[in-house]
Amino acid sequence: MSTFAKIFPLKKKKKADYSHLNASQPIGVFDSGVGGLTVAKEIKRLLPHEDLIYFGDTKHLPYGEKSKEAIIGYVSRITEFLLEKNCKAIVIACNSATANALKEVLELVDGKIPVIDVINPVAEKISYEIHTNVGVIATKATVSSGLYRKSIRKHNKFIKVDELATPLLVPAIEEGFKNHPITHAIIYNYLSNNKLKNIETLILGCTHYPLLMDEIKQYYGNRVRVIDSPSIVANELRMVLEQHRLLNATSHKAHYEFYVSDLTKNFEKISKKIFGNTISLELKEL
Ligand code: DGL
Repeated sequence: MSTFAKIFPLKKKKKADYSHLNASQPIGVFDSGVGGLTVAKEIKRLLPHEDLIYFGDTKHLPYGEKSKEAIIGYVSRITEFLLEKNCKAIVIACNSATANALKEVLELVDGKIPVIDVINPVAEKISYEIHTNVGVIATKATVSSGLYRKSIRKHNKFIKVDELATPLLVPAIEEGFKNHPITHAIIYNYLSNNKLKNIETLILGCTHYPLLMDEIKQYYGNRVRVIDSPSIVANELRMVLEQHRLLNATSHKAHYEFYVSDLTKNFEKISKKIFGNTISLELKEL
């Protein structure tokens, strides 16, 4: 080996080997609350034969207001729980968790199963399309990480990315204030912020926000393209499962399990509205 090669050894990327996994294993999806259901719903639509295990960390909501250390703690316990549940893949259906604890999730999973997050697939897709001024609205925990900007500009450094923290939207959504004057006032106040003045594209950088998609689109009319992140994430999951022959048999009738760390009326109401009345919630304190 040359001296150069000894000093700078080429780090070979370990090729993922998931041959120990079985297509019939469930997919784990988690968020702090109901937001991740927007992703789970899209997974259900795109992959109707997959079993899902959803964890809503309602006891620790909102993640967007928590420290990085706290988020890492919550997310690590959920990851361990989903691994114990024998999941074949984990979808981090939470931007705040992705922005603050993706590295820790990957370390825990240790390459044994695929991990899909909600920021990188969206950032990559955006960066290959024609967008020059992109706005991101997200929680404080996501905006302060700067991960959207870093991730988009890693692929395309000509895109201007402006991120705005919009912390009042999650509580409004969790309170069920859809089509409500309070929510309209909050949306108007945030979207008229100078930071978002020249954007052509808006990323909803929090999985709760697609629940206000109609109101947000109404504000912009056709002036700004609002990105549908849940469908990008669900597509990424399908691609990864397909690539590793991990898609469940089409004859399989999907089964859904829902766990929450605190049984709240709001989660029950909103989750049933999104996922249907037949779901039952199980309390699981981690
Ligand atoms: N849905 C989560 C996200 O995508 C955050 C909500 C919260 O603040 O807990 O960031």
